[in-house]
Amino acid sequence: MKRVNPFITKGYVSAELFCDRENELKILRNNIKNGVNTTLISIRRMGKTGLIYRFFDEINTGNDDFITVYIDIFSARSLDDFVKLFAEAILKFYPEKTSLGRRFLKIVKGFRPLISYNSITGEPQIQITYQTPYEKEITLRNLFEFLENQGKKVILVIDEFQQITEFPEKNIEALLRTYIQPLDNISFIFCGSKKTMMLDIFSNAKRPFFGMTQYLHLGEIDKEKYSEFITKLFSVNNKNIGTEEVEFILEWTNRHTYYTQALCNAIYSFSNKNIDIEDVKEACSYILQHDEPVYLQYRQLLTPAQWNFLIAVAKEEKVTQITSQDFVSKYGIGAPANAKRICKALIDKDLLFANADFNEITYQVYDVFLMRWLQSKFF
Ligand SMILES: Nc1ncnc2c1ncn2[C@@H]1O[C@H](COP(=O)(O)OP(=O)(O)O)[C@@H](O)[C@H]1O
Ligand SMILES: [Mg+2]
Repeated sequence: MKRVNPFITKGYVSAELFCDRENELKILRNNIKNGVNTTLISIRRMGKTGLIYRFFDEINTGNDDFITVYIDIFSARSLDDFVKLFAEAILKFYPEKTSLGRRFLKIVKGFRPLISYNSITGEPQIQITYQTPYEKEITLRNLFEFLENQGKKVILVIDEFQQITEFPEKNIEALLRTYIQPLDNISFIFCGSKKTMMLDIFSNAKRPFFGMTQYLHLGEIDKEKYSEFITKLFSVNNKNIGTEEVEFILEWTNRHTYYTQALCNAIYSFSNKNIDIEDVKEACSYILQHDEPVYLQYRQLLTPAQWNFLIAVAKEEKVTQITSQDFVSKYGIGAPANAKRICKALIDKDLLFANADFNEITYQVYDVFLMRWLQSKFF
């Protein structure tokens, strides 16, 4: 069956609908082969999770030499949640009908859990009650040991790993390191979108995870490759799009993967056989109009000075000198110290992000569509 729309904006579907990342896949393959753990970092919506699923797909195609488990701990607020998500992830990837799933359920039953299945998604939900904090730690160790002893290589991905720094328990990193260190059969991929926090976890010599992994930074997809991919996905579905149009798409979305996919998805769904630049621009306006209520909501949540600063960064697209006289006076920001404070507040809210190059930091609006909307509404 043909998919309705080949431009995915959620998750992973198949290699055909996934663009490039050949280099990154090669690095991941090599790291696994050589027993090297990886720290995968990028800003949100650049394609970390997609890459992991693509990698699992590749690794598991035509053989079952590997056990692959992906845990997203974005919603974890404590070690309890971490253990719960870990156990649920194993069951999700290896359900009861697989032999590994059956073995795992036996172990889990020893923790006296409450197991239920989400009525909508059908995904397993596990609730474990602990008598003591020690029991919780043992449970965690058992989960690692279970995977370690399956007679296969295991790839264990922990997404949004920086979340562990917000757990109330002390020494989480030391605890995890103690359990992880002796494992021979498990390769780890730690993913995260908060770069500073991730770098601090893995590059700070005073912290337990120091030097345990190799970094892999995920940037924009190569321009040529993305352009080819887009043209091809339109053409195999009997739609024609020209170079100028594709250039415009990549430029307007800054090649930030989610936004590029979302725009292509909209163009695809509105267009007829031949797509011209007007069709592309119409899809852009549609998207901005559609999301406008959300943007107006942001305005309510910010102080006027923060809102003004956000517009200023949007208008500039990239700002390196947020405290420069030019920038602050052009946009009426006030004293340079103001700029610093406001900028930090917007970064904490994930509305701006900072990109550190060799010797300078550039600031950008995180959400590309919000940036385009601000540019179009404010002069
Ligand atoms: N290489 C790719 N080709 C096509 N679509 C992709 C690719 N990588 C990611 N995507 C899509 O882009 C969006 C954002 O990717 P995601 O992996 O969720 O980002 P992250 O995990 O970094 O926040 C998702 O909708 C995903 O389907
Ligand atoms: Mg993700």
